[in-house]
Amino acid sequence: MMNTLRWGILGTGAIAAKFAAGLLESTSGRLVAVASRRRDTADTFAAEVLSGLSVARYDHYEKLLADKAVDAVYIATPHPFHAHWAIAAAQAGKHILCEKPMAMNKAQAERMIAAAQKHRVFLMEAFMYRCHPVVTELRGLLRQGAIGQVRMIHANFGFRCAVDDTHRLLNHALGGGGILDVGCYPISLARWVAGVAAGRDFLDPTAVAGAGTIGVRTGVDEMASALLTFPNEILACVNAAVRCDLPNAVHIAGSEGRIEVPWLWVPRRSGNRIIVHRPNGEPMTLAIDAPADVYALEADVVAAAIAGGLQEPPAPAMNWADTLGNMQTLDRWREAINLKYGYADEA
Ligand SMILES: NC(=O)c1ccc[n+]([C@@H]2O[C@H](COP(=O)([O-])OP(=O)(O)OC[C@H]3O[C@@H](n4cnc5c(N)ncnc54)[C@H](OP(=O)(O)O)[C@@H]3O)[C@@H](O)[C@H]2O)c1
Repeated sequence: MMNTLRWGILGTGAIAAKFAAGLLESTSGRLVAVASRRRDTADTFAAEVLSGLSVARYDHYEKLLADKAVDAVYIATPHPFHAHWAIAAAQAGKHILCEKPMAMNKAQAERMIAAAQKHRVFLMEAFMYRCHPVVTELRGLLRQGAIGQVRMIHANFGFRCAVDDTHRLLNHALGGGGILDVGCYPISLARWVAGVAAGRDFLDPTAVAGAGTIGVRTGVDEMASALLTFPNEILACVNAAVRCDLPNAVHIAGSEGRIEVPWLWVPRRSGNRIIVHRPNGEPMTLAIDAPADVYALEADVVAAAIAGGLQEPPAPAMNWADTLGNMQTLDRWREAINLKYGYADEA
């Protein structure tokens, strides 16, 4: 593939800048357009982030969706706007990479998938870590029985955000809180590991117990924990926070050892490690490098799937059923702590 997929970006915030930078390393795609709600932010993004790369700039997302030179859009808005723009993009015939979480709840994600099906476009939730070789290496170890039978998973994603209450991370109207912003990662990992242990792409938990602290001022979950029980008797303990730094490692304990991945959520080009601890043995450390930036790898997964005529990616990237299972688990976690965002169809 020779950089044939023509990308447009909706939104010019923090992750849009990272994706745009990553896309420069993609072997399959290139950025051709960027849209902001204002012309000056689109111009600033092009000048500062794209270092003068020549792209079309729009002051409305609709205008980018009408651009025939765009094949695929990357949706980089706060979560509450993912569903609207993904459905509009599908209606405009654009393929879609949508930031995580796919939506505010499972019902919205179902409507997005229905729109992709109806308009025959590709749709993927942007869990980029699933596109990195560290995940395929981890899957190989689990399948080979490197730690025997998987029994327990511990995974955290938490950080102390230094922002005021109006920022999307703490703002109820912008879908703030840790469960949706970062909890979606360890939930997706736990479901994936339980699935790999069962010879599947993912498994959904039979039970979800949750606890959480909802900020008095913010009304969003600032710290939250969940316990998942899987049908193959695997247990997972997951934590998410936007008010404190957590030890953001993944630990998978088995009948004959345990695996530690010190940092999985935004894997790097080099320096990624998987450590296998075996009973009575020296730990074995695997170093995993990637051929490119993780966002370039993600864009290449999208392009390869589209070139192959697929509407959803092959595992371990997030396919539609995986996304729906993840959204449902997030719904259940929020329900357990009575965290609502006021949507008529939220669980
Ligand atoms: N995969 C990852 O590594 C990763 C990392 C961080 C975040 N994310 C996800 O990416 C999404 C965006 O996160 P972010 O950190 O980039 O957020 P951000 O810095 O706040 O940027 C969001 C952008 O969305 C656009 N937007 C559209 N409607 C908006 C509204 N009503 N209020 C505020 N902004 C609006 C704005 O762009 P314009 O002004 O140009 O329209 C804004 O710059 C979230 O869903 C988040 O979960 C993913």
